[in-house]
Amino acid sequence: MKIIVCENYEEMSAKCTEIFAELIKNKPDCKLGLATGSTPEGLYANLAELYKKGELDFSKVKTYNLDEYYPIKATNDQSYRYFMNDKLFNHINIDKANTFVPNGEAADPDEECRNYEKMLDAMGGVDIQLLGIGQNGHIGFNEPDEKLCCVTHLTDLTESTINANARFFNDVSEVPTKALTMGIGSIFKAKKVVLLASGKNKKDAISQLLDENLTTNNPSTMLKLHNDLVIICDKEAYGE
Ligand code: PGA
Repeated sequence: MKIIVCENYEEMSAKCTEIFAELIKNKPDCKLGLATGSTPEGLYANLAELYKKGELDFSKVKTYNLDEYYPIKATNDQSYRYFMNDKLFNHINIDKANTFVPNGEAADPDEECRNYEKMLDAMGGVDIQLLGIGQNGHIGFNEPDEKLCCVTHLTDLTESTINANARFFNDVSEVPTKALTMGIGSIFKAKKVVLLASGKNKKDAISQLLDENLTTNNPSTMLKLHNDLVIICDKEAYGE
């Protein structure tokens, strides 16, 4: 595990941008595992800026997102498909047919999950999987529980996550209570995992990720078993 502690959010985003930009330059047909939430917004803005300056070409890049609310229409401005288009894909020269997000409109969510996992297996693992972390230690929508699921699955969101995400909706009652998410095993198919964390509300989750224990009560702790994990966090998330 490698940990990079940054002064603030901007420096965290810049460090992560360096890692992604280097990969995209060195491997134009790379496969990126992407995440939503406030944390990666700085990275996505930086990547769009580098594209605008002519420094990055996304024409051969493929992307695979971690999760999506269920059920939700892609056109809903709170869907993760909408978020990805809005924050990144609409600003770069990626072919949208090469961008994959679990389908929140699928009639059969279990079938959608099985097909998503098959696709991940068939493409052989992303070069980098980007992750945020929930205040409760969730990665994707793998929520703290007695058991964790290995593969892409339909899951219930915890109250902590519903409350944390309520800031994006008019009212907490509008937050979807279920999601489709890659499982811990799906995330482990990545060659490299980069986890971003910013702000003091992530401090408890990060300190458990940095201690010596594994616990399903903080799913991010499982990442200690991955052989190429980079944590980039700001001072507030790292703590004293
Ligand atoms: P955030 O969410 O980036 O909006 O804090 C992270 C997460 O819940 O994984």
